[in-house]
Amino acid sequence: MRIRISGGRIIDPGRIDTVGDVVVENGKIRSVGPPDSEAADQVIDARNCLVVPGLIDVHVHLREPGHEYKETIASGAAAAVAGGFTAVCAMPNTNPVNDNAQVTRFILDRARAAGLARVYPVASITRGLKGEQLSEFAELKEAGAVAFSDDGRPVVGSRMMRRAMEYARGFDMPIVSHCEELDLAGDGVMNEGVVATRLGLAGIPNAAESIMVMRDIALAELTGARLHVCHVSCAESIAAIRAAKDRGVRVTAETAPHYFTLTEEAVAEYDTRAKMNPPLRTAADRQAVRQALADGTLDAIATDHAPHSILEKEVEFDQAANGIIGLETALPLSLRLVADGVLPLTDLIAKLTVTPARVFGLPCGLIPGGAADITVIDPQRTWTVDAERFASLSRNCPFDGWPVTGRAVLTMVDGRIVYEAPEA
Ligand code: DOR
Ligand code: ZN
Ligand code: ZN
Repeated sequence: MRIRISGGRIIDPGRIDTVGDVVVENGKIRSVGPPDSEAADQVIDARNCLVVPGLIDVHVHLREPGHEYKETIASGAAAAVAGGFTAVCAMPNTNPVNDNAQVTRFILDRARAAGLARVYPVASITRGLKGEQLSEFAELKEAGAVAFSDDGRPVVGSRMMRRAMEYARGFDMPIVSHCEELDLAGDGVMNEGVVATRLGLAGIPNAAESIMVMRDIALAELTGARLHVCHVSCAESIAAIRAAKDRGVRVTAETAPHYFTLTEEAVAEYDTRAKMNPPLRTAADRQAVRQALADGTLDAIATDHAPHSILEKEVEFDQAANGIIGLETALPLSLRLVADGVLPLTDLIAKLTVTPARVFGLPCGLIPGGAADITVIDPQRTWTVDAERFASLSRNCPFDGWPVTGRAVLTMVDGRIVYEAPEA
């Protein structure tokens, strides 16, 4: 089986940026760049499209095992490939928690059976996410976990986090931190500030995030471990990460499309679709996030895809679950950064591919002989977000109805076409 992806702009950040052909043979990449005239079983016309390494989302919640009515591994993987992602890292806050090899293997089995995106399990730092005892890192790594995180919650105890970092350092795996100082966040449900005051809702200050970012940086410095900071939402966290990087601390960080697209104003009508943790911040924070993507302080864009059903979302704002889905909107929202002149296209592609792959130790790239995980993007294609048509089982999306530009038109995993966009 020989597939030629023909005439697109091939961008593999740091390796190649050229117009030409990508040839895939028996699941592997055969050649990248030169025009190919040999007979192919299938030719994909990629003229006016981008041909890039399969997008990688290092932060998703797939809800299986335990909450399959919100998302299953199969439905999440379908949403991933529809959004152009060929691989996702699945957070461990399932029921049961992914704190043992049996759950890790279950996730991998389900992902294999779905046969869509690759799913890399993230195992918990502490058993049951309780913050009391460390999970068995060796066994979890052996089973296929790529990183450790208690995401959904912070690791409250500093001594516990220190031990986790010391343990993870031995495996050269990142500790992925949901940075939240719970005591300061209190019973806040949105960003602290004028909008919260107007709505009569309890606020969460930026410091609830940045204090924990600073603590975790201090512990990474103490232990020499690799720290990856989740979903950075505010200027103070960014300043701390920037300074730590300048000192040579092994810290990386991600943000999500909602933090560089929306502000706390999105909550103004008590719209629970815009409720997430950390919360949407001010325009100044959004600007800081954009600047940090541009200057490299923020390494990756990840979605924090957090599916919830209407049972958890169509309730009083105070009571509503935190989280928004992101897999099927991340690409066009991210491409807006290029249209807005925030960063060059190549840098944007890097933040969705090779950079997060490097942090999580995942294969990525258009490399002859390597696995053919490829995304073809039509950057000009205009379409309207329609949550009803998502492959995700959930609909908690504040971008529903938005006109957007750019989408994945073809997604290939291991040389198999796993998604093709319907004709425009
Ligand atoms: O908004 C969020 N949703 N933040 C989290 O930390 C957890 C996530 C979830 O699992 O729903
Ligand atoms: Zn989180
Ligand atoms: Zn999360």
